[in-house]
Parts: sequence; structure tokens; C-alpha cells
Amino acid sequence: MSSSTRPGTFLLTFMTLCTLLGLGCPLSCEVCKGSGPTCSGKLKTCDAGKDACVVLVGESSTKGQHSVNTYKACMKFSDCYSGFVSTTMSPKDYMVSNAHCCQSDGCNRGSVPPPQNNRTENGLLCPACIAPFQETCPGTQAARCVGQETHCIYFAGNVQAGIFNTKFATRGCATESACHTKVGAEVPSASYLYFLRRADCLPAPQPPGRAE
Ligand SMILES: *[C@@H]1O[C@H](CO)[C@@H](O)[C@H](O)[C@H]1NC(C)=O
Repeated sequence: MSSSTRPGTFLLTFMTLCTLLGLGCPLSCEVCKGSGPTCSGKLKTCDAGKDACVVLVGESSTKGQHSVNTYKACMKFSDCYSGFVSTTMSPKDYMVSNAHCCQSDGCNRGSVPPPQNNRTENGLLCPACIAPFQETCPGTQAARCVGQETHCIYFAGNVQAGIFNTKFATRGCATESACHTKVGAEVPSASYLYFLRRADCLPAPQPPGRAE
């Protein structure tokens, strides 16, 4: 009897020590991906260096094709942003998301409220482009910012969609919260995982005649 409980006791002692000593104990998170405002999956042990669980709900439009998706996984806490992010490249290409990051086992089991999607133009403009397979893009189009989007972003790097991994570059409007994204970060949207090599984020220029 006592011999069969020993491995369990050992594990418990190890986990407690590991927590007390701040030894980077493995975290486990719920992992799933699916359409709709929530998903459920198994609890999985995170890879080394991934010290947070995330639950993210995104609503996006790609060339007018609308979808809502949920993503739950392990990620680096320093790459994880809890809250609302909105980006707009054109009236038919945009994404809004709401996320929650946390750092205890299974803490991403719940769901987050779907992001609000305010499409009302706010008068600001940003250079815009969407260039799959490219490292840069010219931003010769203009995106009309909506809702709380007050910043212009220029993101480029690699995007992973399932087993497919390719370069991308994009520019457009974003909420200031998008500026939390830094070069080197691995950030999920609802359907894709982005590896950023460029993450410029600047306040949108004031339109002429509206200078303060
Ligand atoms: C939507 O965005 C517009 C433009 O920024 C703003 O005036 C309006 O108050 C927003 N509506 C809501 C419900 O947040």
C-alpha cells in the first residue's frame, strides 16, 4: 500500500518544491481550436518556456468571409496580451479578438466574452496592404480606422496555418493594444499563429483639418 503511493507522494513533493523554488515547473493548459465562441480539449503539459495559458476568441473577415473562432493553448506569458485587439486592413479584411492569459494549471478552461465589433469609422487613416508570401508591403492603399483603432501597424514575419507556414506582411489600423506585440513574439489570432519579425506600431496621423 505505502509502496504504491510513494511515486504519487514523490511527484507531489517535487511539484511543491518546484513551485516554492520558482524552478519553472511545467504548466498544463487546455488545448483546442475551433469555430464558434468556445472550444474544449484536453489538458496538455506546456513546452519549456511557455509559462502561460491563453484563451482567445476572434472574429474576422477575410475578403468578406466572416468567421468566429476560439483558440486555447500554452504560450509565453510575455507574448500574451489579456484584452481586446482590433485590426483593420480594409472594410472586408479585419480582425477583432478578446483574450485572457493566466498562469495556473487549466486556468484557460473557461471562455471569454466575444469581442465587440464596432465598425463605425473614426476618421483616422493608415497605410494598408496585405501581402501573403512577402516580407514587406508598400501600404499604397489607405485603411479607414474604426471604433477604438488609433494606431497604424506594420506587421511582418511568418504565419502558420495548420501545417502550412509562409511569410506574410501587412499594414493597417489597430487599437493601441496591438502595440504590445513585439518582434520575436509568437502570437495567435483565432485561426493562425504568427511569428513576428517586424512589429511597428505608431499613432495614426491626424487627418488634415483636425489638428489639435
Ligand atoms: C464605435 O466607434 C465610434 C468611432 O470611434 C464611436 O464614436 C462610438 O462611440 C463607438 N460605439 C460604441 C458602442 O463603442
